[in-house]
Amino acid sequence: MKYSNNYLFLIGMRIVCYYPNWSLYRVTNIPILYPEEMNPPLCTHIHIAFALINPRTLKIEPTEKHDTHYTDVFNKPLYMRMHELKQRKSSLKLLVAVGGWTAGSEAFNNILINSTTRTIFIRHTKEFLHQWKFDGIDLDWEFPGDIERGAMNNSREQFNILIKEMHESFHNDSNPFLLTAAVSADPTKIDRGYVVSDFCHYLDYVSVMTYDYHGAWDNVTGINAPLYGRNSLEDDDDDDDDDDDDDGRWKNVNSSIHHWLSKGCSANKLNLGLAMYGRSFILANDSNSVSVGTETIGGGLAGPYTKENGTLAYFEICQKLRVFNWTRVFDTDVQAPYAYSSSSLNSFDRQWVGYDDLQSVTVKVLYAKTLELGGVMVWSLDQDDYTGLFCGQGEFPFVRRIHDILFSSNKHNQQESFNTTKATTYSTQQKTSFIPTRPFTSKRLKLTLTPIQTLPKLKIFNGSVKHNSAFYLLFIVWVFFLIQ
Ligand SMILES: *[C@@H]1O[C@H](CO)[C@@H](O)[C@H](O)[C@H]1NC(C)=O
Ligand SMILES: *[C@@H]1O[C@H](CO)[C@@H](O)[C@H](O)[C@H]1NC(C)=O
Ligand SMILES: *[C@@H]1O[C@H](CO)[C@@H](O)[C@H](O)[C@H]1NC(C)=O
Ligand SMILES: *[C@@H]1O[C@H](CO)[C@@H](O)[C@H](O)[C@H]1NC(C)=O
Ligand SMILES: *[C@@H]1O[C@H](CO)[C@@H](O)[C@H](O)[C@H]1NC(C)=O
Ligand SMILES: *[C@@H]1O[C@H](CO)[C@@H](O)[C@H](O)[C@H]1NC(C)=O
Ligand SMILES: *[C@@H]1O[C@H](CO)[C@@H](O)[C@H](O)[C@H]1NC(C)=O
Ligand SMILES: *[C@@H]1O[C@H](CO)[C@@H](O)[C@H](O)[C@H]1NC(C)=O
Ligand SMILES: *[C@@H]1O[C@H](CO)[C@@H](O)[C@H](O)[C@H]1NC(C)=O
Ligand SMILES: *[C@@H]1O[C@H](CO)[C@@H](O)[C@H](O)[C@H]1NC(C)=O
Ligand SMILES: *[C@@H]1O[C@H](CO)[C@@H](O)[C@H](O)[C@H]1NC(C)=O
Repeated sequence: MKYSNNYLFLIGMRIVCYYPNWSLYRVTNIPILYPEEMNPPLCTHIHIAFALINPRTLKIEPTEKHDTHYTDVFNKPLYMRMHELKQRKSSLKLLVAVGGWTAGSEAFNNILINSTTRTIFIRHTKEFLHQWKFDGIDLDWEFPGDIERGAMNNSREQFNILIKEMHESFHNDSNPFLLTAAVSADPTKIDRGYVVSDFCHYLDYVSVMTYDYHGAWDNVTGINAPLYGRNSLEDDDDDDDDDDDDDGRWKNVNSSIHHWLSKGCSANKLNLGLAMYGRSFILANDSNSVSVGTETIGGGLAGPYTKENGTLAYFEICQKLRVFNWTRVFDTDVQAPYAYSSSSLNSFDRQWVGYDDLQSVTVKVLYAKTLELGGVMVWSLDQDDYTGLFCGQGEFPFVRRIHDILFSSNKHNQQESFNTTKATTYSTQQKTSFIPTRPFTSKRLKLTLTPIQTLPKLKIFNGSVKHNSAFYLLFIVWVFFLIQ
């Protein structure tokens, strides 16, 4: 299917996609994802994650030589590849994302010291954006106000001042750079970190990281990004009941989005975050259940490609389902699926994963549409089935589905039997104030910045391998050989 260049631009809902630098270092037998391989580009905005802010000079710095230079291993610079993508779709916006989980707070603290440091940072930022022809900057501080993670005392207020000054400085130019941020979904962190109404006013858009609600740190199975709370309809009127679920009541997409709305963020500034990965677990030996809330003994075994305990990319989950016969269950309460290995009830290989697939992502995108949000954000492109080898749904099925719902036709709105009544019913209650439950204290890890970069930096295949059918054949033979 071909899309005209400005088609997405005219319609206006955003599909913000993160492209993380470390996926290039995957040591795999499938091609790595180069940005220019998405044709046509299905996103309206691409964020390159991450560049770092030097905490002393307050300059933004590319993190890898190949970001800006030709290298033997990757050939063309990454930033150049990104701009090639833009040549195919002029409305595409490229932003550099700074910060991220591992970057912590040091650089941001140093920027916020006083007006001199803020001004220096803003000047350097504009120079960087000009130099590399980016359309804007995405601030991914995790998180302002989070003193446990090193944010300075009054970072909420100081960050707000920075945002305001950046906005003013950018808008002093005839063609202003975009100023955006990725933000927390946790009501406690939102209240501590952001002056919400100002924040949403000064930024062009705000992407809420509405995922990572549950993971290995819970010690029981849970779904990465439930859309709704369990039995939310029934629970609506008894906020004071003190059962075990109470602590986790905020842990769903709907409650996070409503928190942002109730604090004064306009809906059209918000992007609903979508995770193209699942959070996985190993079930405890003595449990004979596979449902949500089952006791676990840690994160699930690493996927063969992403190689990280406790998470699986969407395409890896497809492989589990299709090749390893895992069982999928769609949890209608929370509108998201989970899956477990066929041997889960034996005492071997008791793997479990809560994730998002085309069914749940459809419901979420329709939910975002119903609430008239500005768009969606996707973490991250390299976890989609970009080769089309795993899911049997073509290349980039996850982003393509999002794109089709928002731009192509009504077919997913009508044909699919998904029940969006809940979203519709509550769309008029956007201003309902949200009652925060007990503060969330358990440790939150984040998929995004785990050290895949510590893998040996080998290059096994060229990008060109992707178009080599002999390679595919070998790959398939190899997979089947493996499972015998
Ligand atoms: C990717 O970006 C991060 C900064 O978030 C940086 O630490 C890392 O070295 C970069 N490169 C790789 C290969 O991960
Ligand atoms: C701002 O902070 C920097 C770094 O601590 C310091 O060198 C500078 O003198 C301060 N400027 C003002 C105006 O306070
Ligand atoms: C935070 O504020 C308290 C009280 O105002 C002060 O004693 C403390 O030194 C501050 N901490 C930092 C890291 O600035
Ligand atoms: C905007 O530009 C004018 C003229 O160049 C300058 O005096 C002013 O300080 C700028 N304002 C900001 C916020 O950068
Ligand atoms: C999970 O188990 C670990 C180790 O036993 C414990 O430290 C942690 O507090 C538990 N987390 C939760 C959320 O119960
Ligand atoms: C969504 O969240 C709002 C605000 O917390 C709440 O009133 C509503 O019941 C929730 N909707 C569902 C279907 O849970
Ligand atoms: C992942 O899990 C395996 C098996 O439980 C363990 O041997 C390995 O050390 C874990 N790796 C990490 C990085 O935690
Ligand atoms: C999955 O199921 C198919 C068909 O029932 C069977 O042929 C295959 O061996 C199974 N694979 C595994 C890994 O159990
Ligand atoms: C759990 O099952 C594994 C595999 O059968 C076994 O090696 C291990 O000893 C069991 N652990 C417990 C605590 O029963
Ligand atoms: C959708 O859900 C609502 C509320 O849960 C229910 O009343 C309605 O009958 C459902 N519609 C369909 C088509 O299942
Ligand atoms: C890699 O690509 C280069 C240039 O595109 C080509 O000359 C070379 O033969 C390729 N190597 C392999 C292993 O495919």
